[in-house]
Amino acid sequence: MGTTVIVRQVVKAVAPLPVLAAAGIADGAGLAAALALDAQGVLLGTRFYATTECPSPDVWKQAIVASDGHDTIVTSVPHSLTGRDWPGACSRVVRTRFIEEWLGREPELRRRRGELWSALERAEADGQLEYRTTMLGNAPASSMPSFLRAMSSGRSWQRRKTSCERRFQRWPPSI
Ligand SMILES: Cc1cc2nc3c(=O)[nH]c(=O)nc-3n(C[C@H](O)[C@H](O)[C@H](O)COP(=O)(O)O)c2cc1C
Repeated sequence: MGTTVIVRQVVKAVAPLPVLAAAGIADGAGLAAALALDAQGVLLGTRFYATTECPSPDVWKQAIVASDGHDTIVTSVPHSLTGRDWPGACSRVVRTRFIEEWLGREPELRRRRGELWSALERAEADGQLEYRTTMLGNAPASSMPSFLRAMSSGRSWQRRKTSCERRFQRWPPSI
């Protein structure tokens, strides 16, 4: 279910509790959309993963910069790998070779978890990105140009806020 649909449903279901919208929001337009759906705020993950303060490896920041969102997939493979399966629970991850190899083979993955975990650790030490599972959002491609600069999270957030405020000036809430 898409963020716009589920946020609206959750806002209505839990009112008057405040709701933070998450998933696929990376710019001022996304923030404005979430507020228009009556969310109280947003939670940004992937966008801040590519900021200068984030201690993630540079190689992953570059992967975010290169991503257009289509190289991700929603799957339970990472959960089967860690052994923290939860029926129906999935994550959006980078569609690496490892993920491709194990899609639909979760029962075997669970059985061979120990062996595969060691292989993944060795691959990570060798800098092989294709043998990893990494969560990554699929923020709209239109927001990707800002990913090209791994700017600081403070500056990034200020830009999002200003962009959102401009949108509300253009679209009065009475409409
Ligand atoms: C690198 C990374 C690691 C994450 N790890 C977890 C996690 O361990 N548990 C969890 O519930 N969500 C996790 N998330 C999801 C975030 O909490 C958040 O819901 C999501 O990133 C929001 O969508 P966005 O990335 O499109 O902004 C992770 C996200 C990223 C990018």
